[in-house]
Parts: sequence; C-alpha cells; structure tokens
Amino acid sequence: MSQSDSLPSSLPASVRETARALRTALDDANHRYYVLDEPTLTDADYDRQLRQLQNLEAEHPALVTPDSPTQRVGAPPSAGFSDIQHAVPMLSLGNAFGRDEVFAFAERVADRLESAADDLAFSVEPKLDGAAVSLVYEHGRLISGATRGDGRTGEDITANLRTLRSVPLALRGNDVPRLLEVRGEVIMRHAGFAQLNARARETDSKVFANPRNAAAGSLRQLDPAVTATRPLEFHAYQAARIEPDPGDATHSELMARLAGLGFITSGELQVLYGPGAVADYCEALGERRDELGFDIDGAVIKVNHLRRQRELGFVARAPRWATAWKFPAQEEITRLEDVEFQVGRTGAVTPVARLAPVSVAGVTVSNATLHNADEIARLDVRIGDSVAIRRAGEVIPQVVRVNHDRRPDDAREIVFPDCCPVCGSDVERVEGEVVARCAGGLYCPAQRKEALKHFAGRRALDIDGLGDKLITQLVDNQRVETPADLFTLDVAYLQTLPRMAEKSSRNLVNALDSARSTTLARFIYALGIREVGEATAAGLAAHFGTLDALQAAEQEALEGVNDVGPVVAAHLHTFFRQPHNRQTIEALRAAGVHWEEQAVATGPGPLDGQTWVLTGTLETLTRDEGKARLQALGARVAGSVSKKTACVVAGEAAGSKLEKARTLGVEVLDEAEFIARLDETEADDRRSE
Ligand code: IVH
Repeated sequence: MSQSDSLPSSLPASVRETARALRTALDDANHRYYVLDEPTLTDADYDRQLRQLQNLEAEHPALVTPDSPTQRVGAPPSAGFSDIQHAVPMLSLGNAFGRDEVFAFAERVADRLESAADDLAFSVEPKLDGAAVSLVYEHGRLISGATRGDGRTGEDITANLRTLRSVPLALRGNDVPRLLEVRGEVIMRHAGFAQLNARARETDSKVFANPRNAAAGSLRQLDPAVTATRPLEFHAYQAARIEPDPGDATHSELMARLAGLGFITSGELQVLYGPGAVADYCEALGERRDELGFDIDGAVIKVNHLRRQRELGFVARAPRWATAWKFPAQEEITRLEDVEFQVGRTGAVTPVARLAPVSVAGVTVSNATLHNADEIARLDVRIGDSVAIRRAGEVIPQVVRVNHDRRPDDAREIVFPDCCPVCGSDVERVEGEVVARCAGGLYCPAQRKEALKHFAGRRALDIDGLGDKLITQLVDNQRVETPADLFTLDVAYLQTLPRMAEKSSRNLVNALDSARSTTLARFIYALGIREVGEATAAGLAAHFGTLDALQAAEQEALEGVNDVGPVVAAHLHTFFRQPHNRQTIEALRAAGVHWEEQAVATGPGPLDGQTWVLTGTLETLTRDEGKARLQALGARVAGSVSKKTACVVAGEAAGSKLEKARTLGVEVLDEAEFIARLDETEADDRRSE
C-alpha cells in the first residue's frame, strides 16, 4: 500500500508528492529502527524530516490523516476507556508441565485428527510475558486497538497503542488484506524496565514490580503522551481474522506475512514434527531464556496448519490446538534475614538484602538490592519479613514486594547507618538526592578499592592480572592507596602475597608497564569522576586535546562539550580542584603514565564534510574513542551506511553494514588500517597548524 493513497486529490500534486515522500521515508526509518533493528537514519535526520512534514501539514491541514507519522501522539488525555467487543474471543491457553504432558497433548491432537503424532507439524515460539492486545486494520489502516479484558470485551486503548513505533499505522507492502485482526503482546525489555524504575525511584513516581505490570500499566494511561514515553514493543503472534481468507495456510506462513506487513514477529519460531522434537526445543528455549532481553514465561505450542486448528476447535476458554509449556517462575518468596550496607566507588551506600537462599528460575539467590532508604520506606520492609524476590536476565535480583500479613512479631526495623560501615566517616544525604554517601572519599578503603578496580578495568587502563582479590589485599596491607602506588609495585613484593608466584608477579609488573602507555580518553575515564563514562571521557579528550587544558577549564567551557550538562561539568570542576586528585594525577605522570596529546578541533578539520560509520567490535580502541578521534578531525559519525558514506570501519563480526558498504562500493577499513589512517591524518593535521 502506498502512503499517498489517503492524500486528498484537491491538493497540488507537488505537495502531495512531497508529503508522500516524507511519509514513506519516516515510515521506512521507523520500521527499520523499531522492527528490523537496523537503523538507517540518524535521530537528527529523522527529526528534521518529521519537522518538514509537520510544517507542510500546518500549511495544508488536509494532509493530516490518522496514518501520518506526525499523528502518533495526537489524542488528548481521556476520562476513561470505552469497551470494544472482540469479534473473535481472546482465549487463554492450557498448560503442559514437562515432557510427558507434551506427549499427552500431541496424542490428544493426533487422535482427534486421526493422524500419527509424529507426523504433526507444530509451531513453537516463546510465550511472551507482557500485556495481550488486539489490533484491527481495515484496508491497511489501523482502526482500533484493545486490551484482552475478559476475553470477550476489552478496553479501547487505540490512542495509546498508536504511540508505539512498532505498531504500524499503515500496513506495508503490496499484499495488504482488506481486513486484518492481529493479536500479540506488548512487552517491555529488561533494559527499558530497569531505566524506567530507576527514574521512578529518583522522582518518587510509581515503581513497577516487573515488566509485565509496567507494560500493562503504561498501556492503561489516560494520557497517550505518557504511554509514548514508555519503552514498549508490540510483538505479533496471531492473525485472528484475515480477509480475503488465506485458504490452506499455516501459522508459520502467516507469521512471515505479518513480518512483511510491518510487525515484529518472533525470530525464535520453529516448525517441528512430533512431541519429542517439540519438548527438546522447549527445554532448549528455557536454557536461553535469560539471553533474550525480555521476559518470557514459557513456550506456546501450536498446531501449524490453520485448517487443522479449525478442525480441532475449542473447549471452554482454550483452544484444543495449542498449549503452553511453562517455565519456572521468576519470582519466589523467601525471608529477609539481614541487611548489610555496601560502599561503592563514589561512596554511595547501598543496602543489600541477605536472604534465606531460594532458587529463582534455576539460580540460587541469597542477595538482592534494596537500592536506597526511600526504597526501604516504599516497600515498608523489615528484617524477618517474608519478601518476593525477582530475578530476570542480567538484572540484579530485586525485592519487589513484602508480605505484610506474615510479618513476624520480632521483625526488626532497618536502620540506615549514620557512619560509613567501612571507614566510619559521616554518611551524608544531599538534599534532592536519594543516594546516601560516605563522606570519606579516598580515605575510605571501600571507595579506594572500587576506584582501583575501575582504574585497572578493561575499558580504563586495562591492567591485565590485577583482579579484585589482589586489589583488596593491596589496600588491606596498606601497600596501595592511590592508583599511582600501583606503579611502584615490584616482583619482590608481589611474590610475598598469597597465590602470587614469581611468574604471575612478573606478568603483573609487565602489564603495569604496558598500561603506562594509554590514551587521554582512557586516562580521563580511569580517574572515575562521577558520571563521566567512556563516551563523555572520549568527548572531553577530543574537545580539550590535553589534560592541562581540561584541568584548567572553567564550568562554562566544560558545558561546551557534547553531552556535558551542568551536573557533570560541576563534578569535573570539583574533581580537578581537589589537591589530592591533582597530586594523584601528577604522581601518575611521574610514574610514566603517558599518552599522545591530541590536536584540538579548531577551524576546519581534514575530514570535514565526510561521514564515517563504525561497525563490529574493535579490539584496541573503543568505538567511542574512534568516534571522538574522527569527530576531532571534522568527520561526522553516522549509524548507517549510504552511498554518501566516505568510509566504513569494520571490526570483528561486522554484519549487514559491511555488506551494504561493499554493495555500494564504499571504502572499507579494518581496525589496523583505521588506526593507521587516524594516526596519519592527526599527524598531518598537527603539521598544518
Ligand atoms: S497464541 C488461543 N502465542 O498467552 C490463544 N499467546 O495464556 C492463542 N501469549 O493471553 C494465543 N505469547 O497473551 C499465543 N506466542 C504466543 C504468546 C501468547 C504470550 C499469551 C497471550 C494469552 C496467553 C494465553
């Protein structure tokens, strides 16, 4: 379907043509970004084209139709949701627990179909743990979207669903059905969920117990503008109605067709024959569950042929043609035995729950984070309480709920310490901040250890062989206080430490020697200044060129750097004004830590007007460093390859961008060639100054 179909013919052809081109470009960009996960436009280009379309629509209001990309957040807040009757009821699924029950399910299906269980084709896919919704498209346009409700009647949440970029407003391609009802799940990925809750904790807003609640809660906002800010994704898993009737198709074919129409569908779907293969796959999927980045609570097993699905029909509220293999729950109940307080690199004092060990989705959990004092108050949790623990993916286990009805009489209140549990310094809570901090700074051994771990880390000075245990010993023995002391370590001392033989001691001394030669960006990052991550460090290095210039910079000059706001600028300014920090930096330089000073980007750079793309994994420098060095030379660094791209840098495992560069005949450099080119261009640039 073409994006111009709905544009009124009363408008001049040139206006319609421009609007059509912008709509198509924006829809394509959306689809590539949110559905295919292969961005082609930069955010700035997207915003620019969106503004152009908005301006054009302001001049010609007849261009504004509901499927215009400008209309995702169009509706005002509503007073409540009206009902929508589902034309086809939204059913639930029966369960199969374990292999035997999958075999029994397949036998039941085979009996009814008078077929052999091993000949039956099943489609197996993840059971997404979000909020089920149903979308109706007429002639390719989104007409309505509803919650499941009681299965027969749902709530009309069309205005909210329109704000999800993974919900097409107009279907894509040339094979658009007259009528389509698509069902699927709205999910929130772990990363988005963690960010949403972190922000909520800072701003005293609603904290969600799990991504499912967050997805459902975000969809039921009365103001679509709120839903629009939530990181939600719609994944399609069923075509409940299609006209014209696709005839003798299979579920897996329909899913491929939905992908073509613009929906996210499961990349994990497999068509398998017989219950043995189905059960094997369900087990294997369970093993990989933590790697998907979002919650799944099982696998859904469906008879693949739609004709056979129709033959099998329904019992009560569940289809006979499908069942759910359930994974172990990601939430379990246990007892909070104690709370300890840990001190991090920046002095943040974090309460950690010590739990009676409990197995959560196959992993034994005995610690969980309680975040901060506000979180303890929000949960109203005491030592001795029975608590619900949630573990998912890479996210640290969390206490999500407290069972207040089961609070024992001897439950003890959790008292936040006034003094640092490690060094005894005052614990301070700054007005407006939720985090309490130990005021000891580098006097505090806990902060010192964390600062040293950060300094030695792979993305900082990358000191091979200097692990956490060794750092703990060195600090506890008072042999190392600041990072500069590391460079005074010798083999004779190191080999007196437990588990350190002569060879490992020598290796560490050699590693320290190599670490002396670094880059300015890594050095700035290694200092561990609050809120100065790798990208900010690279930006600062590119902007100031030398450490002296950075140290001398006033707040205002610091704010002139990309991504540096007033808060980060203040952290930097304070850091470099502390005498002990200056002493440490001097001592590091005296110990031989060095880098090549960079040219500052003033005036036109040698790569002005060029767009570069970095793809794949780089080994010797980080992407942020590469990007900062290119930018310092005047290049623009983009996320996608086009025929205007000057050069593509392809690291390990570069994928589609490399392929595209080759097809378009764009110059490609490997990592070694890239570094050589950077060095050469920087040297030329310095000579010409
Ligand atoms: S197919 C006739 N496929 O599971 C039911 N459902 O217990 C057809 N669900 O509320 C549903 N992932 O929201 C199907 N890949 C998937 C699913 C899935 C999650 C949910 C669905 C429904 C519940 C049924």
